[in-house]
Amino acid sequence: MQVIVAKDYDELSRWAAEAVAAQILEKPDSVLGLATGGTPLGMYRELKRMHQEGKLDLARVKTFNLDEYIGLPADHPESYHHYMQENFFRHVNLPADQAHVPDGTAGDLAVECQRYEEMIQAAGSIDLQVLGIGANGHIGFNEPGTEFGAVTHVLSLDPRTVKANARFFGSEDQVPRQAISMGIKTIMKSRKIILLASGTDKAEAIMRTVTGPVTVDMPASILQLHPNVTLLVDKAAAAFLKLDGGQMSVNC
Ligand code: PGA
Repeated sequence: MQVIVAKDYDELSRWAAEAVAAQILEKPDSVLGLATGGTPLGMYRELKRMHQEGKLDLARVKTFNLDEYIGLPADHPESYHHYMQENFFRHVNLPADQAHVPDGTAGDLAVECQRYEEMIQAAGSIDLQVLGIGANGHIGFNEPGTEFGAVTHVLSLDPRTVKANARFFGSEDQVPRQAISMGIKTIMKSRKIILLASGTDKAEAIMRTVTGPVTVDMPASILQLHPNVTLLVDKAAAAFLKLDGGQMSVNC
């Protein structure tokens, strides 16, 4: 696991976008795993700029988002379908049928989970997965306690996640209590992973991800067992790490 510390959020966002762009240059038909939330917004802004400057071609890329709330239709302003359309998809040349987000309104959610997982595997698994992290250590919506062997599944949001995400909905009662998420096993099959974290709220989770025991109580700690993970964090999120010149390599 490699940890790289950016001086601030803008630098972190640029580095994340450069990692995605490098992946696409190296393999124009890459399969990307994408994240939502506040943290990757700067990365999407940079990717949009690169595309507008003619430096990023997504014509052959496929994308799979990590998760979606149960019960929110695609046009709900807080659905992750809507987030992705507004912040990324509509600004770039990614064909609509190559962009995938789980359907949180599916009549049979078990069937939807299976369909989504099979689509990812049929695409050849994910080449580069972008992750955020919750203050409680969740990746995707895999909350503390989620078994590491889970593939795409339905889960209940942790009360800390409901509270954290209330800022997007206006109040806690508006936040859906369930979501569909790729499982930890799905995420761990990705060939490369970058995890982005910004701000002091994430500092403890980052420290436990890097140096703590691998435990379902801190889902992101499983990344210690993945062969190709880079944590891109800003100074605030790195506050509890002992760093050597802004970089850290941890052999797990
Ligand atoms: P955030 O969410 O980027 O909005 O902090 C990250 C997450 O919950 O995974």
